[in-house]
Amino acid sequence: MHHHTLAILKPDCLKNGHQGLVIDLIIKAGYKIIDMRMIRMTKAQAEGFYEVHRGKPFYEGLTLFMSSGPCIPLVLEKENAVKDFRKLIGATDPGEAEAGTIRRDFATSKQMNAVHGSDSDENAAIEIGFFFTQSEMIANL
Ligand code: CMP
Repeated sequence: MHHHTLAILKPDCLKNGHQGLVIDLIIKAGYKIIDMRMIRMTKAQAEGFYEVHRGKPFYEGLTLFMSSGPCIPLVLEKENAVKDFRKLIGATDPGEAEAGTIRRDFATSKQMNAVHGSDSDENAAIEIGFFFTQSEMIANL
């Protein structure tokens, strides 16, 4: 059975020119890209996306950073998409991310950690709906 996850190539990834390399790694890891776009989120949109983290000490910095430049959200499809993608990107803190993971190679800090991946199937569905409409995705299948 195929599952979906929501990835975001974060503003640091684009500023450092790593978006092509990271997309290549994602495809080579067996993911099909169902949809993708490049957008610059407003501060309010970034706050909405990270609503679950509101009140945490890193929330203000994170939402400022996520609205500081364009990012690339992608809808990815593969068996065990959510779990395998978390493995592919590695730990939140690049210092703790395993060798060979995307964050180990491309992240510079816990905040500027190059890529986001949904943490559950339920959140993947919510996060996909934040950036994409069903009708656009169906047209790409
Ligand atoms: P992400 O996978 O996008 O989900 C939440 C984000 O919050 C996380 O990646 C990090 O970028 C950020 N984050 C989590 N913990 C911290 C922290 N302690 N300091 C700074 N940023 C954090």
